[in-house]
Amino acid sequence: MSELFSSLESDSTLAAATLFTRLATDYLAATRDGSGPVSTSRTSSEIAERFDEPLPLDGMPLEAVAERLRHDVLPDCNRLYHPRYAGHQVSPPLPAAIWTEPLIAALNQSLAVAEMSPVATVLEHRVVQWMCELAGFGADAGGTLTSGGTEATFTALLAARAAAIPDAWTEGVGADPPVVVCGEHAHYAVSRAIAELGLGLNNAVVIPSRRWRMDTEALALTLGQLAEQGRRVMAVVATAGSTATGSFDELEAIGPLCHERGLWLHVDGAHGASALLSERHHEQLRGLAFARSIAWDPHKMMLLPLSAGVLLVRDERDLDAAFAQRAPYLFTDEEHAHQWDQGPRSFQCSRRADALKLWVAFQRYGMRTLGEIYDHQCGLARAMHAHLEQHPQFEPTRRSTHSTGSCASRTTARARAGSPRRTSATAGSCASRS
Ligand SMILES: Cc1ncc(COP(=O)(O)O)c(C=O)c1O
Repeated sequence: MSELFSSLESDSTLAAATLFTRLATDYLAATRDGSGPVSTSRTSSEIAERFDEPLPLDGMPLEAVAERLRHDVLPDCNRLYHPRYAGHQVSPPLPAAIWTEPLIAALNQSLAVAEMSPVATVLEHRVVQWMCELAGFGADAGGTLTSGGTEATFTALLAARAAAIPDAWTEGVGADPPVVVCGEHAHYAVSRAIAELGLGLNNAVVIPSRRWRMDTEALALTLGQLAEQGRRVMAVVATAGSTATGSFDELEAIGPLCHERGLWLHVDGAHGASALLSERHHEQLRGLAFARSIAWDPHKMMLLPLSAGVLLVRDERDLDAAFAQRAPYLFTDEEHAHQWDQGPRSFQCSRRADALKLWVAFQRYGMRTLGEIYDHQCGLARAMHAHLEQHPQFEPTRRSTHSTGSCASRTTARARAGSPRRTSATAGSCASRS
């Protein structure tokens, strides 16, 4: 036992920590210089052979573990800092945010209740408030950090369900649930939430696109038809920065359509809401303030390390109503707790203090630099697009003004023999910081 405690002691020192931070800094340096591949050529099975070993009964020295990481883990990891890396919407993370990660783990504050995370809870409210202001929301707004856009959209639609069917938490959604209206290019997080919430996928009403954006005339027509048929609409979901093409739905047109009809507008800005930081691109989000909820992923275009998602709501009471959870041992009705505790507003119970790295990113880089980083990524997407336009094997389907981590331009590669083959070109929002 004393040996165990002494190894915990020695693992808590700066020297021990340096073993791991050195791995990280070496990795960043080695992947930024552009040598070597972006990704491994080994299959998962080949990699698995390296780790095909019994569960260790006894531990090994920390130095040996670090060496295993260096030799067995790092070489086949994707190199997100590599200048040729493009795609997947996963960023080469901002260094100051990387270095906040060990601190988040060391502090291990849980956002379940303020009592468990006195400062982190306050900081989460702080960053959420900043982001609400950027979105054009007023003093009643609020939100929560999430694991990402999927959880944010699920939670938004849960809140919309509570507004449309107030007793759904106890009684279920009934035999005739309302529908959710979304664009054909909505991320699957939307249809997944519709199914998860018990509405049934057949109650997703899909609006076709025009030039890769939700066709607003078709939306107006459909909303009119649904009203005539007496079908209730739980929410309309618009996308601000679509996954495949980076297109933004016209919130300025969609917002008033929803507003006139008293409909909940959720904007999935997981990819594109970071444009709010940019002088040059925030106009893409004109009309965003019509939204009643917004999903925004700082772990995409803001280059935060996974995970950092955010859900914003125009009225915090909507989020309070979403989870009608009773857990008296943890949640109390005291005014102070009600004001600060985030657990009642979150899908998760124990939750990491990811707000800390977001706060650090704002402290270190400020909105101006983060906005310029957004612009830089758009520039990379445009450059990639221009390059592909000249390429004989690619046919751009849409001029991308906004970068997207996965596809700035979906292209059709024409096989020389003439039979078309679909492929996708990834223009890196996150391709390169050089
Ligand atoms: C538009 C959009 N919404 C939602 C998501 C899901 O976000 P996450 O992977 O963070 O859950 C993505 C991409 O992953 C996305 O591009």
